[in-house]
Amino acid sequence: MKQIYEFAAHGAGTNQGLLSQLVVPRPIAMVSTRDANGIGNLSPFSYYLPITGDPPLVGISFGMRESDHGTKHSYDNLMACGDFVINVCSAVFADHIESIAKEYPAHIDEASLHGYTLVDSHRVSSPSVAEAPARLECIVHTTVPLGSDLAPVVMVVGEVLCAVIDDSVLESPDLDHPRIDLQALGPIGRSGARTFIRTTPDGVYHQERVPYRANEKEDLTV
Ligand SMILES: Cc1cc2nc3c(=O)[nH]c(=O)nc-3n(C[C@H](O)[C@H](O)[C@H](O)COP(=O)(O)O)c2cc1C
Repeated sequence: MKQIYEFAAHGAGTNQGLLSQLVVPRPIAMVSTRDANGIGNLSPFSYYLPITGDPPLVGISFGMRESDHGTKHSYDNLMACGDFVINVCSAVFADHIESIAKEYPAHIDEASLHGYTLVDSHRVSSPSVAEAPARLECIVHTTVPLGSDLAPVVMVVGEVLCAVIDDSVLESPDLDHPRIDLQALGPIGRSGARTFIRTTPDGVYHQERVPYRANEKEDLTV
């Protein structure tokens, strides 16, 4: 027996809640920016995806603030300066993700409030979190208005100019063939219903890529 959930028969919140539970685990972009007054901002986003490798593009969906229905401060900042940084949401953020996401007033720097250090980035004006083991420095490539009148959303497509990677998460120093140590990176995944997923040794497994060969067609056993 399978149940059919029709999205058209349900409200926006319920629909998003189900998507958030079925499109899992999602990576979390811990986005750092700075406003025109120099105040840092740190916010997590899990409606986040890699789009293409050439050019290297990533997308993040920005909704509206629930408290005042305005645009998110992180969105305002990246639109004003044209860049932002995605800090990989590793274990260093694990205990603070929800707290960092609180809709603080603009004069609060969520990074320093939670004990993180904002440092200058390599290629962009937005700051980076020193404690993050890896980050992607991005410029705004395109914005795509989506969502609805009741729930407007803008997908920001960022072009990644550089990755800054801590030696501790690099398997070898050869950046022409970069290999990341997944356990050392320790990314946190997002699921629905306020649940998160840690990277643990028994949760990770390996599978070789198996190319299809035309002469295999008589033998379709797996
Ligand atoms: C794990 C997690 C994922 C989130 N993902 C998104 C998202 O993809 N898009 C979004 O608009 N808000 C998302 N939020 C809410 C934002 O983080 C929150 O509104 C933001 O931190 C507000 O701060 P700001 O106005 O300073 O940008 C998420 C919150 C959490 C805890």
